This record gives sequence, C-alpha cells and structure tokens, in this order.
Amino acid sequence: MLSINAWDKDPQRYWQNAPKEVADLLVNWMGPFHQGREWLQRDEAQRSIGLAMQTIMLAAKAIGYDSCPMIGFDIEKVAELIKLPEDYVMGPMIAIGKKTKDIWAKPGQLPLSELVIEDSF
Ligand SMILES: Cc1cc2nc3c(=O)[nH]c(=O)nc-3n(C[C@H](O)[C@H](O)[C@H](O)COP(=O)(O)O)c2cc1C
Repeated sequence: MLSINAWDKDPQRYWQNAPKEVADLLVNWMGPFHQGREWLQRDEAQRSIGLAMQTIMLAAKAIGYDSCPMIGFDIEKVAELIKLPEDYVMGPMIAIGKKTKDIWAKPGQLPLSELVIEDSF
C-alpha cells in the first residue's frame, strides 16, 4: 500500500542525495504537478506499487522462489484489519513460496501488434 499524498509529505526527503539543482527542480515541480489531481495521485501510487511488486517477484525468483500476485481479496476488510490510513491505496498481495506444480502455458498472450503502439493510436 502507498499514500496518494506522498508528494506532499516532505518531498525533499526523496531527493536528499540528488544534486541540489535537480532536487530543487523536482521538489518544486512535484506540488503543482499533483495538486488537485486525485486521479494522478492514485495512478502514481499504483505505478510505484506495480514497480515494487514486480521487483519483489523478480528478486524472489532470483533466489529460488516462485510468486503470484493477487488482488481478488476483500480490500475493504484488509484495510480495516491493518488500520489502513485514509490517504493510502491498496495494491495486490504477493504470495511467495516454492511451487508445488509446474506452471501452465501463458493463459492468453496478446500479439505484440496489439500491445506496441508507435507514435499514436
Ligand atoms: C496484479 C495482478 C493481480 C492478480 N490477482 C489475481 C487474483 O486475485 N486471483 C487470481 O486467481 N489470479 C490473479 N492474478 C493472475 C495470477 O496472478 C497470474 O498472473 C495468472 O495466473 C497468470 O499467470 P502468469 O502471469 O504466470 O502467466 C493476478 C495477476 C496480476 C498481475
């Protein structure tokens, strides 16, 4: 889970090791970019969750484990159980362990021609 208001929570922390001119540029940009655009705040949180999620899954594979992402759980109930703050969104859970069966074929790979868009739709 991630806060949709991370951009407004002392954002200079995120850039503390960057060159000062880069940090100043990005910290000053972050507020106006996110302000009043809740859809973008949510997109950003879910983007970050997705990146972290895949990194965890790849890292698990690299050390010999298998994993499976799942969003089909009672999100509201889990939020209640873990006392999720109001400004947080929930990402998928990831089960990590040793597989008990071989994986099946990709359930529905789409052709690249449908997935790769060049220049515009
Ligand atoms: C973000 C995400 C959430 C998912 N949630 C569920 C889920 O709740 N229940 C489920 O049966 N499969 C879920 N899946 C699908 C499986 O995790 C898995 O991706 C699918 O069985 C296909 O396997 P493969 O990705 O190894 O080809 C989810 C997949 C993704 C990417």
